[in-house]
Amino acid sequence: MTADEEEFPQTYNEFRSDTFTTPTYGMIEQGFTNATFGDSVYCEDQTTLKLEKIMCEITGKEAALFCCSGTMSNQIGIRANLFQPPYSVLCDYRAHIFLHEAGGLATSLCMVHPVIPTNGNYLTFEDIIENVTLDDGDIHAAPTKVISLENTLHGIIMPLEEIQKISEFCKLQNIKLHCDGARLWNASIATGISIKEYCSYFDSVSLCLSKSLGAPMGSILVGDSTFIKKANHFKKQNGGGIRQSGIMASMAIHAIENNFKLLTKSHEYAKQIEQFCIQHNIILESPVDTNFVFIDLKKNKMNDKLFIELGAKKYNIKLMGGRIACHFQLNQKSIDNLKMCLLECFEYNQINPHVPDGKNNKKMYNFDAIKR
Ligand SMILES: Cc1ncc(COP(=O)(O)O)c(C=O)c1O
Repeated sequence: MTADEEEFPQTYNEFRSDTFTTPTYGMIEQGFTNATFGDSVYCEDQTTLKLEKIMCEITGKEAALFCCSGTMSNQIGIRANLFQPPYSVLCDYRAHIFLHEAGGLATSLCMVHPVIPTNGNYLTFEDIIENVTLDDGDIHAAPTKVISLENTLHGIIMPLEEIQKISEFCKLQNIKLHCDGARLWNASIATGISIKEYCSYFDSVSLCLSKSLGAPMGSILVGDSTFIKKANHFKKQNGGGIRQSGIMASMAIHAIENNFKLLTKSHEYAKQIEQFCIQHNIILESPVDTNFVFIDLKKNKMNDKLFIELGAKKYNIKLMGGRIACHFQLNQKSIDNLKMCLLECFEYNQINPHVPDGKNNKKMYNFDAIKR
């Protein structure tokens, strides 16, 4: 085993998601030596308060709330922005808040208005204008009270000019603007635009600590003090009151201070994979702006099951399908293995095109014919 495989035995070959990143030695040490043990439900834990203060400084917002997960900070954040139904929340049709949070928005009694971006990648101001439901007295519709933008979404960065225009419009129309900024860290590192600048256009932002940054758990919700007070009430209602959260907060502080800058490494890995795909005419679903590469399995006629199994059996890499997630705990050997795995599956499926419901699946593949 190489040094990086020893430090990250579970993640040096992990491409399924950046959520699999594990705490570093330094993070564990800081968590267990520097943490305080106050009760954070009573706002008495000094380390958690320190983390929230750091996040206020980074985001330029008045108040911050340490939450158990990104799902929690999104859901309570959106709920705290809403008042009296009927109302709706407008978002991208691929948004995490819509598809991957167990239908949470339904428990806020809101209608979700999912929108397909015209450009195929990110919502624009024009998309918003086309789809927004203004509160103009028409009693047939559910007025848009919150617009939620996800940045990054599928690793794609939303251009600042679009955010600025949408933000201005929301202010004029009294619509709250939320950001699912689970990976706003990645957008900031890639563009050089500060987290503070991004956050200045939103009423509320949720930033995850447990994805690329590598903290074991947690997310931060930021906004003004009144909003955070209300969100904290919903956090408690959802069973999210954490008692001695100091250890987790301490590890999160370490993750912000040490791992934020390492995101460039994960972006470089993703770019390498993108270049490899371009070189071999492997079609991608979307541009590679940050740490995700989306292989268009359908257009490439590739069999996802074969790809995953090839990864596991021949190339010692963990895959989930066409979405390839990069993070700083990978190593170059795994990136090279991924490229070989990708090419082998792609070339095989060019000769034996995968038909999703057909019989030409991986069972016909000779796994012993190792190409390396
Ligand atoms: C964009 C986005 N938002 C929110 C979340 C939810 O985070 P958590 O898994 O901590 O609930 C995720 C999780 O992967 C995500 O990708």
